[in-house]
Amino acid sequence: MSVQIKANGDMIGRAVPRIDGRLKVTGAACYPSDVVLDDTAHAFLVMSTIARGRISALDLTEAQAVDGVIDILTYENTKGKVHKVRFFALGGYTSTSIVPLDTRKIWHDGQIIAMVVAETFEAAREAAYMIRVDYMERRAVSGLDGRKPQPRAAAGFLSSEPGVGDPETAYQEADVKIDAYYSTPAQHHNAIELYATTCAWSGDQLTVYESSQYVYGLKNGVAKQLGIRPERVRAVSPFVGGAFGSKAAITPRTALVAIAAKRLGRPVKLVATRQQGFTVSSYRAETQHHIKLGADRSGRLTSLSHEGWEISSRADDYKVAGTDTTSLLYACPNVATHVNIVHADRSTPGFMRSPAEVPYMFALESAMDELAVKLRMDPVELRRLNDTQIDPINQKPFSSRSLIACYDRAAAAFGWAKRNPEPGSMQDRDWLIGWGCATACYPTNIGPAEVRVTLAPNGKARVRTAGHDLGTGAYTAIALTAAEFLGIPLEDVNVELGDSSLPPAPVAGGSNATASICNAVAHACEDIRERLARAASHEGALRGVDPAVIRLREGMLVGADKSEPLKSALLRIGFGPVEGHAKYTPEVASVPIKLLGHTLLSKGIPVLTVGTSAGNHVQYAFGAEFVEVRVHKRTREIRVPRLVGAFAAGRIVSPITARSQLLGALIWGVASALHEETEIDERVARYVNKDLADYMIPVSADIRDVEVILVPEEDNKVNALGIKGVGELGNVGTNAAIANAVYHATGRRIRNLPIRMEDLL
Ligand code: MOS
Repeated sequence: MSVQIKANGDMIGRAVPRIDGRLKVTGAACYPSDVVLDDTAHAFLVMSTIARGRISALDLTEAQAVDGVIDILTYENTKGKVHKVRFFALGGYTSTSIVPLDTRKIWHDGQIIAMVVAETFEAAREAAYMIRVDYMERRAVSGLDGRKPQPRAAAGFLSSEPGVGDPETAYQEADVKIDAYYSTPAQHHNAIELYATTCAWSGDQLTVYESSQYVYGLKNGVAKQLGIRPERVRAVSPFVGGAFGSKAAITPRTALVAIAAKRLGRPVKLVATRQQGFTVSSYRAETQHHIKLGADRSGRLTSLSHEGWEISSRADDYKVAGTDTTSLLYACPNVATHVNIVHADRSTPGFMRSPAEVPYMFALESAMDELAVKLRMDPVELRRLNDTQIDPINQKPFSSRSLIACYDRAAAAFGWAKRNPEPGSMQDRDWLIGWGCATACYPTNIGPAEVRVTLAPNGKARVRTAGHDLGTGAYTAIALTAAEFLGIPLEDVNVELGDSSLPPAPVAGGSNATASICNAVAHACEDIRERLARAASHEGALRGVDPAVIRLREGMLVGADKSEPLKSALLRIGFGPVEGHAKYTPEVASVPIKLLGHTLLSKGIPVLTVGTSAGNHVQYAFGAEFVEVRVHKRTREIRVPRLVGAFAAGRIVSPITARSQLLGALIWGVASALHEETEIDERVARYVNKDLADYMIPVSADIRDVEVILVPEEDNKVNALGIKGVGELGNVGTNAAIANAVYHATGRRIRNLPIRMEDLL
């Protein structure tokens, strides 16, 4: 597709509040969890209470006697009913390779071992607690601690093992060296909308109402699990109450709800509890890192090695392998990377916001700060000295890279020049003040998308595609793009998303949605403009004007100083709405559009073109984050009164919602640095803080000044509209910036997250 896409800039980039805001705050937005159909039966899950072993006996007698109980699914009556569908990281759909209710085998604590269906939620829950389970239990291994990691070649998912030169020799010969280990904890997404599913059959047609980042994946994957044709399944998720990666792959619950609904001949609704959610879907696994940096006396990097260890389940090889990013961040002639998977008796981890960069950049950006301290150099100057416009591994240029501009803008806004570099030197009464900074970055991913746009004679437009708004502002960005290219007011654009009966769009993950869908919308609008312009050049006010110069602006067709109302132009080519259609495939290598919606990966081809392998260049968005921490001299309480982030991510389509993404991401970074950790009882490999009372996150009182600066950046290589995406950029590096600030305040280098007051006693 070689259509010339020219944005006027009238609407794209305009600061408007989110267009779905009113629906959300008034409760009119119907989330999948809100769906209640006539005659719905209610399901409740039963989860294993051991992490490793087998079920030796199930006694359902008491449960079946509970008033209102209709059916209980267990491996005894469900085995073989759910077909095995490949794990998403291997080109499939599922969040785990463990097939639900297929076996007596227990892979992890909190595995689904039964599902009770009853007339009411309460009856189903009561019965669930009355099921007696006998186990043959084996000793479980919970994780990385106290166990030598076992290197193992892992199935490659979005990752190679980048390396160049001779890092070991360069390290030996380096003037200044850093050699340190870092770790990050397990974390859970904890989206506010729980893992809820309603399935309803109409004849052989199944509708699945489920909060999802990928309705096409859900539709195709569930069809495969049930052994029916994809056309028989419709997945519906117009709104999503938070996801962060947890609703991209199909979890084991969905097929069970579909099977129960079929057996009962009525709709079945399941709402997994907050506690159950900790093992119904995935999580961010804990990681360990070994970083070695070598530099010359001026601060130039001569050697970088980054080895990582990540936990996965015994069922799956899953790794995030952030070394693809840490190996290309700074100029360095000698680089080595390696990532190990450590299998344990745990549920399978998966994507969680900025999956690779959050843990791996923590390690690298902490190590860079340690290097700056050793060199007695300002950490911003160290980044400036080692900045590069070329990927040091394969010498490909960055499509654009404004990292240093971000540092300069954020440093100025923060007042970094006033920093005294001596640890503990800045104080305010009982508080030690620490200032720290770190780099944020995230690859620019993009995928193919199909969009239909209709423009009616009354000037109103409909945009339809099966993308998703995860609360990110996608509805608004898409509407702004359509308004821009159709030359109509924003309020005349209606956007429909999140339904597999709409044209396919990629998974809303990897921060690709704005880039993928808005480029597709532009093409569909161009389809309309072209037809209107061609017809208008034959008759009426624009007769004789070259169709190529005719634009749609402010409800008019304009060109060569002439104009015609949109309405008369529309009536010229038809009586009803005009439809524009686009199958957009990114300019850089990507999966063929015909595979879109069939697999996340197909034969090793990712559905998304990823930033690290985008043809002749690499594409990333960048940012710089500065934080102030205050550590109480006696209690060692840690506060974060100030955060400043400056970000350059190409064209910003919807500045207000983009800023909200970055604000939220910076705040999540505080959680990552100081609060969040899924605590694991190592004796039984069990998550123990499974609710929002015990799973620590910052509350409003923890967050004071947060400033987001959008640094202008033009990039004509990433895609026609120059969009990079901001969804996952902002929380990368925040944890390191805070750890670096804690060092500056106290002189204590904390290399294991989260940093808690007891670490500073
Ligand atoms: Mo995001 S973790 O790529 O859904």
